Amino acid sequence: MDFTKDTRFAGIEPFANKIWLSSPTMHGDEQKWVDEAIRTNWVSTVGANINEIEKEIAAYIGTRYAVALSAGTAALHLATKLAGEKLYGQARPNQGTLQGHRVFCSDCTFDASINPVAYEDGDAVFIDTEYDTWNMDPAALEKAFEIYPDVQLIVVAHLYGIPGKMEEIKQIAEEHGALIVEDAAESLGAKVKLGDQWVETGTLGDYNCISFNGNKIITGSAGGMFLTDSKEDADKVRKWSTQSREAAPWYQHEEIGYNYRMSNIIAGIVRGQIPHLDGHIAQKKAIYERYMEGLADLPVSMNPFDAERSEPNFWLSCLLIDEDAMALSVRGDREYLYARESGKSSPHEILDALAAFNAEGRPIWKPMHMQPIYRTHPFITVEGNGRGCSNAYIEGTGVDVGADIFRRGLCLPSDNKMTSEQQDRIIEVIHRCFK
Ligand SMILES: Cc1ncc(COP(=O)(O)O)c(C=O)c1O
Repeated sequence: MDFTKDTRFAGIEPFANKIWLSSPTMHGDEQKWVDEAIRTNWVSTVGANINEIEKEIAAYIGTRYAVALSAGTAALHLATKLAGEKLYGQARPNQGTLQGHRVFCSDCTFDASINPVAYEDGDAVFIDTEYDTWNMDPAALEKAFEIYPDVQLIVVAHLYGIPGKMEEIKQIAEEHGALIVEDAAESLGAKVKLGDQWVETGTLGDYNCISFNGNKIITGSAGGMFLTDSKEDADKVRKWSTQSREAAPWYQHEEIGYNYRMSNIIAGIVRGQIPHLDGHIAQKKAIYERYMEGLADLPVSMNPFDAERSEPNFWLSCLLIDEDAMALSVRGDREYLYARESGKSSPHEILDALAAFNAEGRPIWKPMHMQPIYRTHPFITVEGNGRGCSNAYIEGTGVDVGADIFRRGLCLPSDNKMTSEQQDRIIEVIHRCFK
């Protein structure tokens, strides 16, 4: 269908320049610090930019140590490996530290959160999502401990910059003696209230990770960090990330190593971005609030958060279509189809309409328990085992919150550089989809 010729969209002009989901927003100093690295010949995985951003991020987040790495995925891998070693001891060089062990994992997240469990030979068990924040459901986590009482590790992410229910999750972890790997890749700068204290995401686990991927709230084009209060853990991650070199005059190795350290050039970009983190959060918040207001008359809601006990970074604004306003639509593993129904719409109709007017949205991250690669892994909902819940002789299929949010939701263009006029046009396109 050509949306630009559809009479429902009459009078709306496509954007001359694409409006992105979330693209890098540079300010000038990034260039200065990159140039400085080149001028002084610190074009390597050591240098002043790395030292400086480790100090600045640790101070911002409130951890003693930050270790700059090549990606958030690298941080998550080493965090997961540290947890595995702590729980189950050192593995042989050709084996993962989680071999033979289950790990409870956020289900509605990007696969980089939980792939490290597989890198370390562990078995991910996916925990369903709650509607209040679209993150791991503490009630489903409790259920999971009833079914698998021996589990000792939880990997938890904060989706789209909105913190999960960490007070409850931390409490459950403590009751069961489990460790937490926190994936704050999307939520840098978001805060939660623990008791009467506000703390940053990235301090809430036993091992914590952030990302500077090009689409994140601040970026180095790539990069990530491991955050901790433990000097021993910080030192270990530094060692592992630089090929596990021992203090010997030659290359000497007692442990398996990785080439995961951040480059001083990337660190220069991050260094130029850090002073703008709060500014970016304010822009993202304004975008979220503008959508909230502009879409208030439609049968949709925004990705929700707990206004009393959390302060998101509003990285991505998303919407969820009310069940009774969902037009008929189906998805296969690669294709989709939807019907046009008056007064209703569907995520793919809205995404296609936005694309036709040169704006980028995205489907909700497809839950991990629905991914072909993890289809044989357990999935636990508030009702218990979420697999094999349907029956030829009985109506219904059981609760699956993640699948429902994936079916009815979508991520909206949330770029810092989008003007309010441009956002108004996007809001108008969404309105016309429901005509
Ligand atoms: C939730 C989540 N975890 C982990 C990652 C991985 O970070 P990176 O791309 O820096 O490896 C991303 C994004 O890329 C993410 O969105």
